[in-house]
Amino acid sequence: MEKTYLMVKPDGVQRGLIGEIVSRFEKKGFRLVGAKLMHVSRETAEQHYGEHKERPFFGELVDFITSGPVFAMVWEGENVISVARQMMGSTNPKDAAPATIRGDYGVIVGKNVIHGSDSPESAEREINIFFKQEELTDYTKSG
Ligand code: CMP
Repeated sequence: MEKTYLMVKPDGVQRGLIGEIVSRFEKKGFRLVGAKLMHVSRETAEQHYGEHKERPFFGELVDFITSGPVFAMVWEGENVISVARQMMGSTNPKDAAPATIRGDYGVIVGKNVIHGSDSPESAEREINIFFKQEELTDYTKSG
């Protein structure tokens, strides 16, 4: 079953949006298989956002994601990577459609409430950055 990495960013945690965001994915029918409230170290942030290293906003991005707690999650379900991206809306909240998470709660691109993996390769890489295998629940196992 496909898995994705989703993260409520420091702005979303500070604004009390964890419950609302978790609720949207639960109601959609996806399964939460791992979650933790945590501070992201600079080293982890630089690894996670490595593909943006040459962008002018890289420093700002790392400063922001390390500025307060994030809520890191792994979700499972059919096509969860692409469907979660649709539910999140466009990266820049000004372009995000109403009824998407960023469309409803975001205002500026640097503080866009949530991160979600954009491909199966990113999902695997990002899940491994933030979670150990034993921190993920396997619903097919009992006991
Ligand atoms: P995210 O999906 O977490 O992946 C990369 C992030 O870079 C993106 O969300 C935005 O929050 C951030 N980002 C993209 N463009 C800009 C920008 N011009 N200025 C600041 N942050 C940006």
